[in-house]
Amino acid sequence: MARILITSAIPYINGIKHLGNLVGSQLPADLFARYMRARGHEVMFICATDEHGTPAELAAAKAGKPVEEYCAEMHQVQADLARGFRLSFDHFGRSSSQRNHRLTQHFAGRLAENGLIQEVSEKQVFSIDDNRFLPDRYITGTCPNCGNTNARGDQCEECTKQLDPTDLINPRSSISGSTNLEVRETKHLYLRQRALKDKLETWIDSKTDWPVLTTSIAKKWLNDGDGLQDRGITRDLYWGIPVKKGDAPWPGMEGKVFYVWFDAPIEYIAGTAEWADANGLDDAAWERWWRTDKGASDVTYFQFMGKDNVPFHTLSFPATILGSGEPWKLVDYLKSFNYLNYDGGQFSTSQGRGVFMDQALSILPADYWRWWLLSHAPESSDSEFTWENFQASVNKDLADVLGNLVSRVTKFAKSKLGETIPAGGTFGPQETALIADLGARIQVYEALMEQMEVRKAAAELRAIWVIGNEYLQSAAPWSVVKTDPEQAQAQVRLALNLIRVYAILSQPFIPDAAATMMAAMGSEDWSWPADIGAAMRALPAGAAFSVPENLFRKITDEERADWQKRFSGIRA
Ligand code: 2FM
Ligand code: ZN
Repeated sequence: MARILITSAIPYINGIKHLGNLVGSQLPADLFARYMRARGHEVMFICATDEHGTPAELAAAKAGKPVEEYCAEMHQVQADLARGFRLSFDHFGRSSSQRNHRLTQHFAGRLAENGLIQEVSEKQVFSIDDNRFLPDRYITGTCPNCGNTNARGDQCEECTKQLDPTDLINPRSSISGSTNLEVRETKHLYLRQRALKDKLETWIDSKTDWPVLTTSIAKKWLNDGDGLQDRGITRDLYWGIPVKKGDAPWPGMEGKVFYVWFDAPIEYIAGTAEWADANGLDDAAWERWWRTDKGASDVTYFQFMGKDNVPFHTLSFPATILGSGEPWKLVDYLKSFNYLNYDGGQFSTSQGRGVFMDQALSILPADYWRWWLLSHAPESSDSEFTWENFQASVNKDLADVLGNLVSRVTKFAKSKLGETIPAGGTFGPQETALIADLGARIQVYEALMEQMEVRKAAAELRAIWVIGNEYLQSAAPWSVVKTDPEQAQAQVRLALNLIRVYAILSQPFIPDAAATMMAAMGSEDWSWPADIGAAMRALPAGAAFSVPENLFRKITDEERADWQKRFSGIRA
């Protein structure tokens, strides 16, 4: 049994996330966590809301609420939606927690002690009309790297380049739109990433098994222009973690807070501490996941995120960890995703374009979305959500292939052989061949799941469902029962066992349907079918089963057209 630490990029607190956000981090992380638990490993799966910085302040201002209140409410909304999508976090924390305050201040203190923090008197954009500094997203302008005219002051979403507000061409205030800006002096802390370049490079070079997308982005920013830039880690903002050196005040930095991207990844650690607190456990309980001197040296750590997050996780956060000089766990494997587009354009939070998590659950249960999103995850390139494709996948894969098998078998068995697992007959050559085929395919499926090849794993799972249908089609117990009832009993016994095995294999993708299938087979035995021959004989003859409610319904053409129209424009 291995110990597996999994974190998903923590979603910004401002507003409900769209399906593109979901498939780029939280959902595939959940798939992996569920699979690893199903294989009997000890898993710690952490996510949280990313509550600081300008996105939170701007959204709270727009909602007309104090930022603390806005964040508390939105955290609850996001936690409920995560539950709705069956995201199986061990803890869903908050980056504004006291745990994160203390840890963030601790890391800053350590970095300062190690000479890795520089105090810089620098020029920042000040808006005369707004009477305030304009850090990060408070400022919008043209990206000097790619020409995107809507680049934010901290990062260009188009080309993923990390920016400073003063880099922007034709800058304007995001609050008032004012271009009446001037540059003023203010003091800030810089993390001396340059000094850590060699260490970072050696570390990244040692990760030979990382996906190309991850390594290429890391390498690009490591060697960008004249190399890795030192990064400002403080801001002139009200909302955030007050700048302190560990427990001690930081002279000259009064009234300033840490930059959201400095404290957000530290929340992965703090979130695990919050988990311990919430469960009445001591510090040792979370430290054994994070401190290699306290038991974490046998932990394997996986991170999941969209490609725009990769620079922060391959350079900035590791710089914090390495620079601390303390034995904290670094990521072992970083799985990153391209973007999911929406029906001929992009998902857009600001324009409300696409399907958002709450809307999705209001029209169909989680499994439908989970299946489509995961089986179309944007891995090797960007992918696109279209309603036609969604309808076709749901109707074919879920309703025709899986759902139909379950309902056909259980209904036939009940009407012709009764509501218990039939005892008669023995498995013949056809059954033996199916079991062998399943065994081989499950091995492929396991390998793909371990490699986090999400789309390929979904395709393999679907293939596993298909061979069950093919078996049933050719075995045809509904004909055999007329001439050889014993043989029909063996066929049905095999098919009912198959339903239980499918529940186990499918659970990481479609947990609700899997639970329904398992319950219908009257079993609670979720143990992985490592020995497929035994697993296909696991249900005791004579035990009761039931016919489940229809597992999946089909999406009609009218619904598809209606939804397409409803989600084409601005979110209400
Ligand atoms: O892109 C985002 O949604 C960020 N809130 C991700 C932060 S991940 C980490 F640093 F915590
Ligand atoms: Zn750009």
